[in-house]
Amino acid sequence: MGDTCRIELDGTPFEFPVIEGTENERAIDISKLRSETGYITLDGGYGNTGSCTSAITFIDGDQGILRYRGIPIEELAEKSSFIETAWLVIFGKLPTQADRDRFATMLTEHSMLDENMKKHFDGYPTNAHPMAILSAMINTLSAHDPEVWEADDDESIERAAAVLMSKVRTIAAAAYKSSVGEPIVYPRYDLRYAENFLHMMFSKPYKDYEPTPAVAKALNLFLLLHADHEQNCSTSTVRMVASSEANMFASCSAGVCALWGPLHGGANVAVIEMLQQIHDGGISVDEYVKKVKNKEDGVKLMGFGHRVYRNFDPRSKILKAAADDMLKELDIHDPLLEIAGELAEAALSDDYFVSRKLYPNVDFYSGIILRAMGIPVNMFTVMFAIGRMPGWIANWKEIHDDPKGRIYRPRQIYVGPTDQHWVPREER
Ligand code: CMC
Repeated sequence: MGDTCRIELDGTPFEFPVIEGTENERAIDISKLRSETGYITLDGGYGNTGSCTSAITFIDGDQGILRYRGIPIEELAEKSSFIETAWLVIFGKLPTQADRDRFATMLTEHSMLDENMKKHFDGYPTNAHPMAILSAMINTLSAHDPEVWEADDDESIERAAAVLMSKVRTIAAAAYKSSVGEPIVYPRYDLRYAENFLHMMFSKPYKDYEPTPAVAKALNLFLLLHADHEQNCSTSTVRMVASSEANMFASCSAGVCALWGPLHGGANVAVIEMLQQIHDGGISVDEYVKKVKNKEDGVKLMGFGHRVYRNFDPRSKILKAAADDMLKELDIHDPLLEIAGELAEAALSDDYFVSRKLYPNVDFYSGIILRAMGIPVNMFTVMFAIGRMPGWIANWKEIHDDPKGRIYRPRQIYVGPTDQHWVPREER
């Protein structure tokens, strides 16, 4: 018999089981709380609420640990690729050579968009935000390939995952091409995942873009580091939608919308805007830090702080090293990186940030890397979405495969007006 939690409500004692995860995380299982006591719990922002058990990703925010299916992120960053890691995240084990080959072939075969889909791009205004196009186009994809709605067993889920991961990259590049008034570039069957994306982004009808190995390596790493991050805002959104038995594409399209906000995936854009503002405005780093500490007009140090990490985000350490390497190899001197370095140094030795355990998160350096690759700022969050696709698919699959799954349906405490009556317009 495991531990239990005893609480007393209105003089009556109740007991609830305590459950423990494989990494000794402990939770009070209150699934019978309302039926037994009539009470619910209230936890604004869900900071203390476990919405599910999950076997995909483990984070220890105090120690700065991140593991996909038990494997440390540092090890995957050094030894694996985005595609291998994606398969690991989705299917729970490292792929065999045969799994790798099959999945790679499917990714290649599904990289083209249906010709009819090109017409949809023509309907968007120039300068339409690529996140809007991405979320809409993911649903449009499923309208062109209804087989993906029926994805049910591992085989059909693998196919749907390959369709989604492959085409999302083509859509992202096509959205960019439409927004700059250039023709859409077809994928090449001889290029690997990251290289193919760079080709579709930057090749022109009169000039092929040949990605340098340094850029392709950095993009592969960027995508791998974003592959999953347990129950964040967009992943919880995907699970919420999936719990209604919505298909993988509908669920992941909702994830794109949730990711768009500046407090989530949009933070990598906000970081570059902040660095640019400091650079262009001639503000000193100390002045900016002062503004942040005074909470002037809600100014925050973007790319700092995290709901879960109260230590260095391990992804930010890896990205910082990769950004340094790539800029050195490409001989790029980015004044914004220098400002970022000074900001990080100032914040990490300042009591405001130290006492609140605010450290650089993944977005602090990812914008620098993307900028150096030539990715325009309004595509940054799209890049995050391409990387996060395996995590969303894995979480969709976990919900789909759960025989005891129930539709997600939180409760609330109502604080609005009590019983009222309708009043005729002339008496209001
Ligand atoms: N700059 C200045 N102060 C901050 C910051 C920051 N970036 N982040 C948190 N604080 C302060 C906050 O004002 C509060 O201060 P006080 O105790 O005086 O009220 C304290 O630190 C605790 O913060 P919180 O708002 O309760 O933290 P949260 O867990 O609700 O928010 C966060 C987490 C990531 C939304 C927040 O840290 C933030 O807005 N950071 C900047 C945006 C950002 O970089 N987001 C990317 C997150 S990582 C990628 C992803 O998962 O999407």
